[in-house]
Amino acid sequence: MAQAEIGLIGLGVMGSNLALNIAEKGNRIAVFNRTAARTKEFYAEAGALKDQVVPCETIEEFVAAIRPPRPIIIMIQAGAAVDQQMELLRPHLEKNDIMIDAGNANFRDTMRRFDALKDSGLTFIGMGVSGGEEGARHGPSIMVGGTEESWKRVEKVLTSIAAKYKDDPCVAWLGENGAGHFVKTIHNGIEYADMQMIAEIYGILRDGLKMSADEIGAVFAEWNKGRLESYLTEITAKVLAAADPISGTPMVDMILDKAGQKGTGKWSAIEAQNMGVPATGIEAAVAARSISSMKGEREAAETILGLPDVPELKVADRAAFIKDLENALLAGKIGAYAQGFAVMAAASKEYGWNLPMPTIAKIWRAGCIIRSQFLDEITSAFTKAPDVANLIVTPAFASMVKETDGALRRVVSTAALSGLPTPALASALGYFDSYRRARGTANIIQAQRDFFGAHGFDRVDGADSHHGPWGSGLNA
Ligand code: 6PG
Repeated sequence: MAQAEIGLIGLGVMGSNLALNIAEKGNRIAVFNRTAARTKEFYAEAGALKDQVVPCETIEEFVAAIRPPRPIIIMIQAGAAVDQQMELLRPHLEKNDIMIDAGNANFRDTMRRFDALKDSGLTFIGMGVSGGEEGARHGPSIMVGGTEESWKRVEKVLTSIAAKYKDDPCVAWLGENGAGHFVKTIHNGIEYADMQMIAEIYGILRDGLKMSADEIGAVFAEWNKGRLESYLTEITAKVLAAADPISGTPMVDMILDKAGQKGTGKWSAIEAQNMGVPATGIEAAVAARSISSMKGEREAAETILGLPDVPELKVADRAAFIKDLENALLAGKIGAYAQGFAVMAAASKEYGWNLPMPTIAKIWRAGCIIRSQFLDEITSAFTKAPDVANLIVTPAFASMVKETDGALRRVVSTAALSGLPTPALASALGYFDSYRRARGTANIIQAQRDFFGAHGFDRVDGADSHHGPWGSGLNA
């Protein structure tokens, strides 16, 4: 029997779907699961794809079934379980075999695992996979980090299973060690910001304009035909249109307003902060999820403080305001994506990855959760100017910012005056307003720092005097 081209450990939802996708694209795959019963069940359900699947009950059998050098995908819960699985697998492997972690790992764990295998002859790939269950089964976006040599070994299989944007496969080797998982983390951070800004716009439509879920769904469905066309806009329209089978009321109205989070958004914000890169949209989105989870505290606070004592939102021209909301969402997205790409540019320098920005935008155009038309525009902006300091100063995005920031300003201020929270949208406005202002206000901060701590400052005239005339600080 021909040897398998690749192996996969972990037949949970994501692993099973990925394995079926690999088999369907004509690649022979060996599979193994901690519990053999699950492997049997998976094989029994593989239908016509059985011929391409080698179900294995022991690790020995599994390893022997794969053509060396063996690429082995580990698709299990991120964290300690991955280290344990690697330890179990390691004694059975041979020189140049490749362990591939396809979970949502923290890139720091990926770097550590990569380093730990460095002198062992074995190697490691940290592979970000986006697109949820559907993507895994029919075409995810895949972000690969590892040695170029190990990428060469898996390139053909991964290219065959990746989503396609037009004819371009949404998979790429992005650099050594943690590059793939870092990029996947930032993908998720942007996903958080995108989702939060959609939630804020939904809040203005629901609590400001008093629209029903169905009506709001229709607005998003309409927007999905324009510049906001994206998977997240599309599914927002769909979830708003769905009815609860139990009560018959809109499903969203029956869902508790507490958002979960597994860590990737938080890691994005932490890494951005570590490198001194503003990622205010992602930070606002992570904080908003945390506030959302404090349901009890929010209920108590509403009892004590009440909702803001402000007039209800009134708009003279509803259609014009809804157009403003569409443009405000686009402007907010531009801010969040610009920040996400700036974080990746800084990480690329910090870790020596040489991350290819146009390629990252390219492989996010299909398959992943943030896939959109918009990413095609980002691809072309970075293709023309791969080393630009910030997406918003590329000609195409500068003109989009100029065109939409008025709407963002009107929406954020109208929402504020009506007591409706827009932390992520407001952060984008603050970001644009600060980033485009050549003379800011940090001169006063520098003066204060020098006053109380003699920290010194630079002068606008370049003169060689770096302390203020405030005598001996606090006692002056
Ligand atoms: C994707 C998703 C995927 C997953 C997140 C959700 O790209 O396919 O981002 O990775 O849905 O883990 O993350 P939270 O549970 O933190 O929202």
